[in-house]
Amino acid sequence: MKIVHTITDLRDQLAPFQRPAFVATMGNLHDGHIALVNQAKPLGDVMVASIFVNRLQFAPHEDFDTYPRTWEADCERLQAAGCDVLFAPRETDLYPEPQTYKVHPPAELADILEGHFRPGFFTGVSTVVMKLFSCVFAGKPSGAAMFGKKDYQQVMIIRRMVQQFALPIDIVPGETLRAADGLALSSRNGYLHALERAEAVQLSRALKALGEAARAQGLDKLEALEAQAMQVLSARGWTPDYLTVRRRADLLPPGTTGAAEPLVVLGAARLGTTRLIDNLEI
Ligand code: PAF
Repeated sequence: MKIVHTITDLRDQLAPFQRPAFVATMGNLHDGHIALVNQAKPLGDVMVASIFVNRLQFAPHEDFDTYPRTWEADCERLQAAGCDVLFAPRETDLYPEPQTYKVHPPAELADILEGHFRPGFFTGVSTVVMKLFSCVFAGKPSGAAMFGKKDYQQVMIIRRMVQQFALPIDIVPGETLRAADGLALSSRNGYLHALERAEAVQLSRALKALGEAARAQGLDKLEALEAQAMQVLSARGWTPDYLTVRRRADLLPPGTTGAAEPLVVLGAARLGTTRLIDNLEI
């Protein structure tokens, strides 16, 4: 595996190839990231992963400084997974000057759910992903990039961005990997101490229960069911931001009559100082 830090070196490495397959990460790689790499590999003629903790998507009070950085272990895992090129830009490589040109995704998609509780988050994500895409795919006839469905709203926003800018990149969603008890794998799970780790699975259980109740009792009861689901978590010591049933197509609340339309239950809640997110398609 070649490790490159600058955009020029990355493009030199990729020059012989026609169709990169790409997985963007912020490092601290777990099995979910490696599964994405394994699934992405056959989608291109060279496998590229990036590690970059993107300051633009963290609010000042969030965990940019403490976000886990595990460089040696990450390199070993990517090498073992058969990654060809690791792009690990320093901040000065990706943002040599303040990034004043930004991608602002539309409010109806980016200011709800995660974007409501983390204002500006999706501008930070979209901007860095657009820039990483430009580093990896510029001049290529086509490419593929995989993103995990655990960040459901992120996948949707990136997919729309690629459509709107007519980028020749296939955005492929990867299923969420879970621990044996059902907790979605996430780098932030590492923040949980033992008691919190045992409790953490309750988020996915609450989403499952909410999804089942919504399907069984009808979408006209949704507001009450969502409030109840939040109360259940609150009573266990969580601070929920949202637990909600939305349409998969646009993440808006479902109509009360369209019971058969594809839905997704999404949730975000804080356990101690750790904020976890998860979702379940129903
Ligand atoms: O999902 C992530 O890890 C990040 O949001 C991403 C896509 C690597 C952009 O920094």
